[in-house]
Amino acid sequence: MIVPTKYPPSRVHLIIVRQNYRQIHFHNFLDTLMPVAKLNLNRYNGVMFLSDTKMEVYMDYAATTPVDPRVLKAMKPYFNKKYGNTMSLHKQGREAKEALEESRNAVAALMNAEPNETIFMGSATESSNTVLKGIAYANKKKGKHIIVSAIEHNCVLEPAGWLEKQGYEITCLPVDNFGLINLTQLENTIRKDTILVSIMHANNEIGTIQDIQKIGKICKEKDVYFHSDAAQTFGKIPIDVKKMNIDLLSFSSHKMYGPKGVGGLYIKKGTKIEPLLHGGGHEFKKRASTVNVVGIVGFAEAAKIQEKEMESDAKKQTILRDKLIKGLLNIDDSHLNGHLTERLPNNTSFWFAYIEGESLLMQLDIAGVSASTGSACSSDSLEASHVLRAIGLKPQEAHGSLRLSLGKYTTVEDVDYVLEVAPKSVERLRKISPFKKGWKQ
Ligand SMILES: Cc1ncc(COP(=O)(O)O)c(C=O)c1O
Repeated sequence: MIVPTKYPPSRVHLIIVRQNYRQIHFHNFLDTLMPVAKLNLNRYNGVMFLSDTKMEVYMDYAATTPVDPRVLKAMKPYFNKKYGNTMSLHKQGREAKEALEESRNAVAALMNAEPNETIFMGSATESSNTVLKGIAYANKKKGKHIIVSAIEHNCVLEPAGWLEKQGYEITCLPVDNFGLINLTQLENTIRKDTILVSIMHANNEIGTIQDIQKIGKICKEKDVYFHSDAAQTFGKIPIDVKKMNIDLLSFSSHKMYGPKGVGGLYIKKGTKIEPLLHGGGHEFKKRASTVNVVGIVGFAEAAKIQEKEMESDAKKQTILRDKLIKGLLNIDDSHLNGHLTERLPNNTSFWFAYIEGESLLMQLDIAGVSASTGSACSSDSLEASHVLRAIGLKPQEAHGSLRLSLGKYTTVEDVDYVLEVAPKSVERLRKISPFKKGWKQ
């Protein structure tokens, strides 16, 4: 809500009320909003704010992507023309089953898997939960030790924490300042009773790509299941589950221009795993539920497109990414998070001294730029991102973070616009920053 204040008319206080209404955060945007010529009120995430721009730049492709129009076209008939249940024996059922199996072939091909090793799920979160809990349950006679990295997505860390409460032992491997795990440390951490190693392919916040092939080799030699969360890499950079010695791989459709509510799990033949959902015999008895044919058809279409366009997309995005990094590092006291080269083609992540990433996010939103910050909001406190803390950032540094993630539709004009508005936003926020002590004007 916007509250009139006792300040002179040129001064505006923006009061941001979080969705849970427990926490009220004051951001003093006095001089900041001064240049605003035309004010519009927008509502976003329980927050009302002022906007003055017609330019819209979406730079949050790591959060989600728009559905590719070709994907939408492929999906349309499955809403109301080819609407059968894959388990039905009649014509509509057979039609749906055929579409499901064709889709499975396309998604399996993208990671060099066999179709019967490819299970459709509701999301990458569901896939990773299935892996952690399903492997733990099915292999508890062998042991109860699981290894994860400190920078895993919460879809791995939360089930790992839950398992810890059930008597499993979780080892959380640290990462270096770039976000890479140490392979020798991994090797030394694997024990006789270790049943699973779960290391993500690329990190969603800082974009660092792990050496998955070497990790897979270590796990294979030690006879331990290896799971990788590939939500940020599937359909974006090449994955070969055979070459990379992967036993289990989680992935998601909405990160690669497919619809939301569809994900997948690769389960190597012979892997001992219990399903999360019991019911019908769907998905080789690995995931009971009426199959989301329309979503899966969309996911498969996205997979076919990405198989063809992934390489050129990555090349284009790497050029734009590097331009953005170079430009934003011109800002005084700005820092790049993550690895310079072992990095997703579409990821940039920074921290800017003396400012709050959330305030910067709002500033950019006002300017029409959609970005993200590394700070995760918990229900009753603003916690610094566990990923940024794991790469060695202090809490106040982690709070000054900004992630700009690019995609298929990002243009050089978009990057130029961000390079024009972001430095100004940082400068404005620093002028009013309570942390600016020592900041040279
Ligand atoms: C690395 C990573 N893993 C898992 C997920 C969860 O994916 P989904 O939205 O399909 O549950 C995300 C999404 O933000 C992610 O970035």
